[in-house]
This record gives sequence, C-alpha cells and structure tokens, in this order.
Amino acid sequence: MTTVRAILEQVEQAVNASDADFTATFQFVCEPEGTYRLVVVDGQCDLRVGAGEAVSTVVADADDAVLIFSGKADSMKAFMEGRMRIEGDLMAMSVLTQFTAGGTRSTGGPPAHPRVGYLAPAESPSHEWWREQALEASEGRPLRQVAADRGLHVGAAIATPSLPSADALVPREFNQVGAENAFKWGTLAKRVGEYDFSVADAFVRYAQRHDLRLRGHTLIWGRAGRPTDLEATIRAASDPTATLRQLMGEHIDTVLNRYRGQVAAWDVVNEPMAYGGEGLDRNVFSDHLGDDYVAEAFAMARSVDTEVDLVLNEQIPANQYNDVGGEQFHRFAEKLIGQGVPIDGIGIQGHQLMSVPDPVELRDYLRRIEDLGVFIEITEMDMRIGLFADRDDPLGAQAEAYHRCAEVLASVPAVRAVMFWGAADTDTWLDHFPPFDAAAPNQPLLFDRNLEPKPAYYAFLHGLATTP
Ligand code: XIL
Repeated sequence: MTTVRAILEQVEQAVNASDADFTATFQFVCEPEGTYRLVVVDGQCDLRVGAGEAVSTVVADADDAVLIFSGKADSMKAFMEGRMRIEGDLMAMSVLTQFTAGGTRSTGGPPAHPRVGYLAPAESPSHEWWREQALEASEGRPLRQVAADRGLHVGAAIATPSLPSADALVPREFNQVGAENAFKWGTLAKRVGEYDFSVADAFVRYAQRHDLRLRGHTLIWGRAGRPTDLEATIRAASDPTATLRQLMGEHIDTVLNRYRGQVAAWDVVNEPMAYGGEGLDRNVFSDHLGDDYVAEAFAMARSVDTEVDLVLNEQIPANQYNDVGGEQFHRFAEKLIGQGVPIDGIGIQGHQLMSVPDPVELRDYLRRIEDLGVFIEITEMDMRIGLFADRDDPLGAQAEAYHRCAEVLASVPAVRAVMFWGAADTDTWLDHFPPFDAAAPNQPLLFDRNLEPKPAYYAFLHGLATTP
C-alpha cells in the first residue's frame, strides 16, 4: 500500500534538488465514506485546490474520491517537516504531474511558462503561410484523408459524443476517436461491480455512425480512474491479493466482452512507470500483485479476446526521450515483450506540457520501440501554448513544433496512429486540471475555440502530406 510517507520520500530528493518555487500536483485517492482534511499547521504553505485560491485547510467529502491540490515546494517541505498534515484515512497518494528538478520553476502560476492570452489564429503572421503550404501539399484533402492515404489513423479523444466538436469537426478531420474518461474503470463503475455503460456505449454508437476507429482507454490504471471503493474492498477482504486479482479479471472480462469487435485497441495498462523515481509506480495493483500486475493484466486480456490489439501506454517524463524515464520504460517494455507477454503495441502519450521533444531523440526512441517488433501509437498528444510564451508568434512556434512531430511520426513505419487529447482548444482538459488550469487558455490542439483550424493544423497536415 502506498503511504503518504513513502510518496514524500520519493519526492523529497527532487524537491531538495530545486531551489524554491517548485510546483507539483498531488493526487490523493481517498476512501469513500469519510471526510478528509488537509491541514496547513503553520499557515506558511501555498496550497490550492483545483482552480481555487490559496487555502490553509482543505476538506473533501466522500464523493470526492480523488482530491487534487497543487502547492509549491515549500508545502512539500512543510509536509516532510510535519508542519502540514492530513487528517483522515488516506489510502493512497501519488504525485500526478512531473516534479523533475530544474524543469518546472514557477512563481505561483503554472509551472515554467506564463499564461498566454487567447490568440486568434487569423492574427498569427504565420497563419496564411501555413494554410497555403498545407492546401498545396494536401491538394485540399482533410487531415483524415491525408493520414489514411499513408496508412495512419489520426484521432481525437473527447469527453462525450455530445460536444459541439463531435458533430462536424471530428468526423470531417479524424478517422479515429477516443474517450477522455468514459472507458476508465472508475467511470464505468463508480463503485466496484456497479457498472453503468451508458456513456461508453454512446461512444460506440458515435464511432460506428461516423466510421471512426475507436480506442479503449484504459483497463488498468494505478494512478487514477478506479472505482472509489476499490481500495476499501481490497482492504476488507480476507485475502486482498486474491480479491484484487479476481476483481481485475472480472473487470477485464466484462469490458472486453461487452466491446468485442467494437473497440479496435485497448490501453490494457496505463502509466506503469514511477514519476521521477526508479522502477514502477507504486499503486494498489503493484502493491498487492507486485510488478507482475502488468503482465497479468495483458494475459487476462488476451485470454478474453484473442483479436483485439493490446497496448501498453506511457507518458515519457517531460518528453525527454533519451533520459532515464524513456530508458526505464523501454527496458520495461523490452523485458515484457521478451518474456512473451502479449503486448501488440506501445502507446506513447505525447503530452507536451513542460517541454517539446527534440525531434531526433523522439525519432530515435520510436525506432528503438519499433525494433521490439510492436506497433506504435501516439495516444494523447497536446502541446501547451505556454511553451512558446516568449515567442513573437506563439501560434506559429506551436505550428512549427507540430510540424516537426508530424515529420517524425510519418517517418517511422511502426507508427500507425496519432491521437490528440481533445479535438479543439475549447475542450482541452488542461484548462481544468491543476496546475495547468492557472494558465488557461492552454490552446494545445489543432483547432481553436471556434473549431477553426490553427496554424498548428495546417503545419501538422503539411508534415504528414510531405514526409517521404
Ligand atoms: C484526463 C482527462 O482528460 C481528464 O478529463 C480527467 O479529469 C483526468 O484524466 N494521461 C492519461 C489520461 O492517461 O487518462 C488523462 O486524462 C490525461 C493524462
């Protein structure tokens, strides 16, 4: 079981390596039926919950199974020095965003990059140029067609099929869709075994209506997205390990059977690696089943459905592909594949929140994954405009970064799908998710808040259309 103390020890090193104003986001996974108080004892800490103001006490009740707050390094130290404490029975806590030393300075706003006000695409000096380049290269074909012509799926993960962007935009530009949350265990079953498939089913109908490939995200995720009473159920069991294994098996069985033939690929396990630390993330699955929970989940999935594609999905920390995070994940994937674990593909999330990847490092990394004999999907791409806050033309700089990504993805044959985490800037999760909510509008996607193409759209399209 992950304890607050264990997590704090894990982050202590990173905190000490930075000099103040270091922002991290924590996620507490609470027990249901309890009240939790997060108390700042000496009032020195800068704590925020969600998009709220700084507070000294946070109270979360039973429904808030996931309590998220962000604070500066000082509050982490306050934890460790006992100046801040949690009252209530917290089962698990994990650090949600990266706290890699040196990368995330902040002065109270979001990490590293100041807020950029809303930027209208047409006002970007590069907009017309990219538009002309793209129209010429694509001969007027929409993104989905350009992608399909080179054997790629290009998708958007959206919150529900009833979003305005789901109407015309997604079917016009994408040939794949995903659900931001609808297929997560904790969304399908708020409490263990109490399934409500309505939103996920709506995605299936939507995908069929528009002939979109549907991705399943995700069966097993240690960090978040679980039924609120999973930990309590396990703890109350006479044999917690056997009970967790059984619940995991039943869940995989239920979901794969229900969506057999309708979901093309599943993220069987999401984010297995620890942030910043060594080895695997410590969570309810790894605590009870050991690191083998990953292999077990894949074996369970394969035994239920022999056809569907099974994917291991991960975010490489800060997109530092030639750094320890990328290395550890590669080693882990290589080991599992070498042992015959039925992994068909590797998902690289591709969130670009702290930094954009170096294209050469990204390409080399994807080639190394390709050498493992699996397909690759980019599963959750977005790129905060704040990364380009100091540029004269942030939208143009974002477009260039997307262009480089498109060129890399198009040049690695094993890459067969690219999905954006949202269709248009109006939908992005980052505007509601600390600490990035403080930087809203984050404008990380290809279409603007009016669902109109941005320079990034034309640049990405151009990159796909022109890469040999
Ligand atoms: C995010 C969703 O977009 C949000 O709506 C939700 O509040 C939190 O989860 N990596 C993942 C995704 O694997 O499941 C996360 O999705 C984004 C980070």
